Amino acid sequence: MALLEISGVAKRFGGVAALTDVSMLVNRGEIVGLIGPNGAGKTTLFNCVSGLIPPDRGRIAFDGSDLAGLPPHARAWLGIARTFQLVQTFTAMTVEDNLAVAAHTFTGAGLVQDVLRLPGARRAERAARERARVLATFLGIEHLLGATCGDLPFGLQRQVELARALCLRPRLLLLDEAASGLDSTETAAFAEVVLKARAATGAAVLWIEHDVPLVSEVCDYAYVLDFGELIAEGTPAEVVASPRVREAYMGSGGAAPGAAGEAPTAGVPAVRTRRRREGVR
Ligand SMILES: Nc1ncnc2c1ncn2[C@@H]1O[C@H](COP(=O)(O)OP(=O)(O)O)[C@@H](O)[C@H]1O
Ligand SMILES: [Mg+2]
Repeated sequence: MALLEISGVAKRFGGVAALTDVSMLVNRGEIVGLIGPNGAGKTTLFNCVSGLIPPDRGRIAFDGSDLAGLPPHARAWLGIARTFQLVQTFTAMTVEDNLAVAAHTFTGAGLVQDVLRLPGARRAERAARERARVLATFLGIEHLLGATCGDLPFGLQRQVELARALCLRPRLLLLDEAASGLDSTETAAFAEVVLKARAATGAAVLWIEHDVPLVSEVCDYAYVLDFGELIAEGTPAEVVASPRVREAYMGSGGAAPGAAGEAPTAGVPAVRTRRRREGVR
């Protein structure tokens, strides 16, 4: 059974068909790329999976259970965490507080204990801070714990957002253009952190990304959306070679996406685990 199974999902906004009959699978521990031109429906699909909006049609199942009707926080409890296309950390708070707030979701003692500051709440707070510190150390950003998020360079804010998602102990991590706006060194560092997190936790990743060399380097499998429709899927090499994908990006006969004069992303580590195939595509 696949970890995430999206079947026949459709979503319209007025006259715009943001998603039309989209089906895809993410297996446990897999890193799956989701590419497609702007407006293709990628973020809309994430919003449907994370529960921010309901699809008009279709089914989204996580670990075999239909997610329909579950609000975002319930999906987070089940193990679905995401980052946003525009970084959404609490900029006025420290890195530690950002991470602790997320970690607290899992160690939370409950509202009554929190409000009354009962011992259970203090224990939960300590546990959340401990988890935040452990995670920051694991990701190599422990020296930033005391920094105010808004003061950090953009690349580090992206890492904090990722760390915060990892504090939720996800089994599925949804990354929405997490490397956009990063230079090649920051991108390589970010990819390394994602691979390290996957290796350590076994979390699967569904990664929306425009940087095709990056997708090719880190993803086990890739899907391509165009105008709300799935136009290709396969290994990154297969989708980049697909005539329909080339057409979607460049017009008929054009170059492969991301291939036009771009050097491959520098220094993306070649740490890959065996591709798993328990879900049948
Ligand atoms: N909340 C919304 N209201 C109206 N239209 C939307 C909304 N969200 C997305 N859209 C439209 O749906 C289409 C897909 O958008 P989006 O999912 O953001 O694409 P992508 O992330 O692939 O760039 C676009 O035409 C966009 O304008
Ligand atoms: Mg988007």
